[in-house]
Amino acid sequence: LLPMNEVLKPLAWLKGTWRTKSPGAGKYPTIQPFRYCEEMSFSSIGQPMLNYSALSWKPDGKTPMHYEVGFLKIIPDKNKVYMLLSHNFGVTTIEEGVVEDKIIKLKTTHIGRPTEGTRGPIVLELRRQFALVGDCLEHTLYMATENTKLQEHLHAVYIKKCE
Ligand code: HEM
Repeated sequence: LLPMNEVLKPLAWLKGTWRTKSPGAGKYPTIQPFRYCEEMSFSSIGQPMLNYSALSWKPDGKTPMHYEVGFLKIIPDKNKVYMLLSHNFGVTTIEEGVVEDKIIKLKTTHIGRPTEGTRGPIVLELRRQFALVGDCLEHTLYMATENTKLQEHLHAVYIKKCE
């Protein structure tokens, strides 16, 4: 593989495969709180973006839960980043934001869904933060739906499994 692209330097701390240290916490006013395991990968093939995937599963077995894949792009010479994502439950999202030192803050600017075939409620907004805290990666996701105002849906802490 080619070395990481120069423009990705501000994101170098993210590169690698990250696994939940202990099960993460999921909640929302409309559902039962739940725990989940997750593996996130930020990888580079030399292009000016990180390839991203996050696969989650139930802690008591290997039942897959959510899966999202896409790209984390940086706008060169600015602290601006965006994520283009495709989620297995039938939604695509573009989240835009900033990288400031070891924190990335993102907010959806576009959410796409097929004309039929997905369950409600409709997601109206996502916000998330990735932060490097010591050696750990912390991820918090906030969601608003057509029924529920913006609030936390997910929080997890990850340790690096491999580069
Ligand atoms: C429920 C969206 C990530 C597990 C929901 C609901 C929505 C949603 C719209 C329904 C809430 C309601 O009925 O009011 C999303 C989005 C995600 C995401 C947009 C990512 C950006 C995850 C992840 C997991 C997860 C990573 C598991 C690790 C669940 C569970 C429920 C739920 C267990 C309740 C059961 C269900 O309705 O399927 N999520 N979610 N979600 N989410 Fe997420």
